[in-house]
Amino acid sequence: MFGEQKVSYSGVQPSGNLTIGNYLGALRNFSEYSQQYKTFYCVVDQHAITVRQVPAELRRRTYETLALYMACGLDPEKNTLYVQSMVREHASLAWILNCFTMFGELSRMTQFKDKSAKHADNINAGLFTYPVLMASDILLYQTDVVPVGIDQKQHVELCRDIAERFNQIYPDTFTVPTPVISKQGMKIMSLADPTKKMSKSDENVNAVVYILDDRDTIIRKFKRAVTDSGSEVRAADDKPGITNLMNIYSCFTGKSLEEIEREFAGVGYGEFKLAVGEATADALAPVQEEFRQRLADKAGLEAQMKRGAEEASYYARRTLSKVEKKLGFVQIR
Ligand code: TYM
Repeated sequence: MFGEQKVSYSGVQPSGNLTIGNYLGALRNFSEYSQQYKTFYCVVDQHAITVRQVPAELRRRTYETLALYMACGLDPEKNTLYVQSMVREHASLAWILNCFTMFGELSRMTQFKDKSAKHADNINAGLFTYPVLMASDILLYQTDVVPVGIDQKQHVELCRDIAERFNQIYPDTFTVPTPVISKQGMKIMSLADPTKKMSKSDENVNAVVYILDDRDTIIRKFKRAVTDSGSEVRAADDKPGITNLMNIYSCFTGKSLEEIEREFAGVGYGEFKLAVGEATADALAPVQEEFRQRLADKAGLEAQMKRGAEEASYYARRTLSKVEKKLGFVQIR
């Protein structure tokens, strides 16, 4: 909360091509808050370097992610859109909050366990303290709501614990944020293994539908999606493949699962998969078009990066200065 205004904050890593999981779980929900909240949406490049990145690709994806924010309906006049590394307060607050976060808490983070298994040759300290940087992102802006997919819920809950702990020692410092998880899009699963989350870092490109995939590729990927035994289009725990496809179809068409069951009663999986592919391609087409226009305007994106960083810094500096004063750091202006 800044003054009377509630704050919505979220971020996306520019660590790979963004997927329909990122879109349905997060990006497309961001604009819901643009009218009534003060909103900050960040391209979190500092998070991305917890795993090795190719510098030129990281730079390109940073531009692309910002362009995608805009293509997903985030008007830069109404939302502060910016790049994390351009606002130095994030890393400064992260150091401070590291001193208010317990080793045991970080050890329990499931994403750390998963990522350290995946990158066994590079289990760096940044990977371990990543949730503290994320907490700093959120707390710097006195955030009320954090729209995210379900995989980030544990991190936002840790952020709440850190904020409450800090507030207990130094009252009235941080707003304690609430994660907002959209019921439908919260966990889009892999098309190759529907028990696994769809992830931008998946090596199997057929498991993942990217926001920028062309129509034919989208339809082909859905046609190949792993389905379950049987032939009925019905959502059930023992049908994770079909349930995932129904969920995606539901997100893109607004139809309920019951309506979808009725629509495809007596129809085979093949026809249903084609319909999911077409609905996805139709829904993404305008986003892709807008993305291309935004990306072509490099100067416009750079101007936004500069302006967004200035806007964000104003708020970030206010919180950091409050924190440093409470801690007893000397402040001479
Ligand atoms: P990241 O970059 O992995 O993902 C960005 C957003 O997409 C959501 N998401 C999904 N939602 C549904 N189904 C999926 N298969 C799926 N895959 C990803 C994520 O939940 C996320 O909301 N740590 C964060 C980035 C971050 C952040 C923050 C978020 C850094 N600072 C502050 C919120 C607030 C991350 O790695 O997201």
